[in-house]
Amino acid sequence: MIERGHWWPVALATDVGEAPLPVTLLGEPLVLWRDAAGAVQAFADRCPHRGARLSLGVVVEGQLQCPYHGWRFDGQGQCRRVPALPGFTPPADHRAVRYAVTAAHGLLWVCLGEPVTDGPPPLPALPTRCVLHGPFDVATSAPRAVENFLDTAHFAFVHAGWLGDPAHGEVPHHTLVHTPDGRPVVPDYPAWQPRASASAAGGAWVRYRYEVLSPYAALLHKRPAGEGPTDAYVLWASPQQPEACRVWFAQYTSDTDTPDEVLRAFQSTIFAQDRPILESQSPKRLPLDGSERMCAADRLSAAYRRYLREQGITFGVC
Ligand code: FES
Ligand code: CO
Repeated sequence: MIERGHWWPVALATDVGEAPLPVTLLGEPLVLWRDAAGAVQAFADRCPHRGARLSLGVVVEGQLQCPYHGWRFDGQGQCRRVPALPGFTPPADHRAVRYAVTAAHGLLWVCLGEPVTDGPPPLPALPTRCVLHGPFDVATSAPRAVENFLDTAHFAFVHAGWLGDPAHGEVPHHTLVHTPDGRPVVPDYPAWQPRASASAAGGAWVRYRYEVLSPYAALLHKRPAGEGPTDAYVLWASPQQPEACRVWFAQYTSDTDTPDEVLRAFQSTIFAQDRPILESQSPKRLPLDGSERMCAADRLSAAYRRYLREQGITFGVC
């Protein structure tokens, strides 16, 4: 499965404290914890002794202790202590399954296989203030969530009075291009928005740039035509199961006045409008087989599906 070679976000960098944290990635239960050096480690959430969940254990003296028989594992996954045999030196095969983990963009990222990319997707230059929204656990596939993020034709209906106006449902003509590595980009998309941001005083023309960053991540850069903040949103989707994902929205904004809580409330309102629709879609896996009807206004969705096919994505699609 090619997805195992990609880096996926699994938690906020600040989520891992003293207690082990269970997460799920690509259907696999993982445990995140901090070792003796304070570094975050990602192990399969399964003790090599008798399969108990390591995330039910505790961290003792910088080692992860299994809840069942108390075996202790160091940051490399090696078992260092078997309490039932105090004099025993555990051999090399007494070890937990350990995965590569790294921090980027305020999140922790895990790669379950041989990496096919250098690391998490890089971001272009963006406003420096970053507010992370989420996590939002969504009962649909990661690619359904990404496609929704790339879709503007739903604004007039799902976000009426906010991001769209029911009297102006048309999708204007826009150009689609691709990056040298094949990711779809819409460089300039104009839209009239009744309430484009948390600080908006009234309606405004905004110009969007959409960019697919990775199979389950996308960037939306929003510039007002006149006054108003420049906002960039990145959707980071973590593919937990084929039909369940966890998403974060990273908002990079030039708005230095509006408090975090107000920005969070705005984003939560928008996502609360999206969620019931997203979770109602059937099938939950994104069809790449041409079984859903597309029109010219769906140019970016069609390009995204093509990109997933080219990437060999199989998780969360059908
Ligand atoms: Fe973990 Fe026995 S199952 S120590
Ligand atoms: Co929406």
